[in-house]
Amino acid sequence: MKKIFTLLALSTLIVLLAQCSPKIAKMVTSEPILSKAEIENLYSSEQLNHGQSLYANNCSSCHNLHKADEYSQDAWNDILRQMLRYTNLDFDDAMTLRAYLMANAKDS
Ligand code: HEC
Repeated sequence: MKKIFTLLALSTLIVLLAQCSPKIAKMVTSEPILSKAEIENLYSSEQLNHGQSLYANNCSSCHNLHKADEYSQDAWNDILRQMLRYTNLDFDDAMTLRAYLMANAKDS
């Protein structure tokens, strides 16, 4: 009997954890898309460099990194909606990663 409860508790925990990342992906990509000038006002260059490291460290395990200027800001937002769920980034770090990509995105 005890075993069943432990199993139930564990599977609930796993389900809860698994739900975290998709929610963050949705939250982050629902934030307004700012112009490059606005991003540079809001984020210091240290923060944007940190965003670049977050990108390099969290987005290269399944495929090579795509250059930031390969996609427009809108395209990056759509991509991040799919890809952020594969990472364990919290909201702030995901926002910083997004800011780096958007600050260096292709001008559409
Ligand atoms: C768990 C593996 C995995 C991780 C981690 C991952 N990706 Fe991907 N990514 C994929 C797969 C698989 C594809 C190709 C299939 C697809 O487009 O859905 C892909 C495709 C892409 C593409 C090409 C999309 C296009 O339409 O050309 C980009 C850009 C990208 N990923 C960015 C990212 C970013 C940014 C991150 C980090 C936040 C990331 N990926 C993390 C698996 C991953």
